[in-house]
Amino acid sequence: MQIRAMMEADLPKVCAIEAENFSMPWSYDSFLDSLKDEKNVYIVAEEQGEILGYCGMWGVVGEGQINNVSVSKKHQNKGVATALFQRFLEEGRKKGIKSFTLEVRESNAPAIAIYEKFHFQVAGIRKNFYERPVENAVIMWLNEE
Ligand SMILES: CC(C)(COP(=O)(O)OP(=O)(O)OC[C@H]1O[C@@H](n2cnc3c(N)ncnc32)[C@H](O)[C@@H]1OP(=O)(O)O)[C@@H](O)C(=O)NCCC(=O)NCCS
Repeated sequence: MQIRAMMEADLPKVCAIEAENFSMPWSYDSFLDSLKDEKNVYIVAEEQGEILGYCGMWGVVGEGQINNVSVSKKHQNKGVATALFQRFLEEGRKKGIKSFTLEVRESNAPAIAIYEKFHFQVAGIRKNFYERPVENAVIMWLNEE
């Protein structure tokens, strides 16, 4: 498995995984705008030309706002997200990011397990933040200052 920067050519495959995993998927253009900005970190895990998963964050004045963490259903539970996330945080740190934040559905135990593995802590709950279905968001932070 190779982990590398996301490129525009990856977007059809990234969007297919996005549609598989989320009821309100990010659009092609949202990914394209995000990966073009040098302050952001957008990476993919690839094996033999197949995209297994991807992560994305916006870098906003020293803070990493994590927007995308996703692995295709076929490749889940094989350690792909763990490997991606490790590299993802490293790439963020290289850009001077000192604290990372994300929101996750309260019921999303596999995702929360990964974030806790990387020492993210729960900072609060955003009531009914998600739609389709409506659900609370858990807000998590990793501060490395
Ligand atoms: C969350 C997601 C990215 C994880 O990817 P993955 O490649 O399967 O993750 P990994 O294989 O690296 O690790 C999965 C971890 O979750 C744990 N896990 C799996 N199912 C679990 C469950 N029901 N409850 C608690 N932990 C669970 C596994 O034990 C493993 O942890 P470990 O390595 O410490 O044993 C993937 O499931 C996914 O894409 N889900 C849909 C999209 C999504 O919800 N993204 C997050 C949005 S915030």
